[in-house]
Amino acid sequence: METAAELIPEDADLGTLRRLAAGCTACDLHETGTQTVFGEGPADARLVVVGEQPGDQEDLEGEPFVGPAGAELDRGFEAVGIDRSLVYVTNTVKHFKWSERRGKRRIHEKPNAIEIRSCLPWLQAEVARVEPEVVLLLGATAAKAVLGSGFRVTKQRGEVLEGVDGRPTVATLHPSSVLRSRSDEQRHAARAAFHADLEVVAGLLQGEEG
Ligand code: URA
Repeated sequence: METAAELIPEDADLGTLRRLAAGCTACDLHETGTQTVFGEGPADARLVVVGEQPGDQEDLEGEPFVGPAGAELDRGFEAVGIDRSLVYVTNTVKHFKWSERRGKRRIHEKPNAIEIRSCLPWLQAEVARVEPEVVLLLGATAAKAVLGSGFRVTKQRGEVLEGVDGRPTVATLHPSSVLRSRSDEQRHAARAAFHADLEVVAGLLQGEEG
């Protein structure tokens, strides 16, 4: 199997996609991850948020963004007034890739181009079914997967671009980069910049309401 595309029937709804993705073996990561972590959220969500891949906690719980990065993301949504119940959250790659243990936690490793390409049809199908008004890409892996390998998130973060199916799409840094800050000062600055990008998304959603 080259990519997950051959597992995806054209007319499958989100529930069917989730069930089929649970058995996906399109790349080798089904051997490292505990389970497929599919997207979560309402089928008519107004915003789809795309991360990189499930982390240690997400892999065990089977849900995206339930660990520290998810808490940082929630904090951002709250700061800019985005109601999380309107949001469908998912990842570019649906299995956890990791290489070593540090204490109890397994340390994540970036997915490679083959793994991303294999998994991308799931994300495309999720966006096609949910039909969100806006897509938010968190971090370089999601941004490059959707907007092309030449995309530089550090340069173009916070801009409104055309993404999947021409939908308004904003890319920003991954919330885990806020958590990796080396000082309080850096963390405050990183968080403020992250929230500024989320404000752009909140503005787009408000614009659509009017
Ligand atoms: N980081 C991600 O990119 N996705 C998750 O689901 C959790 C952490």
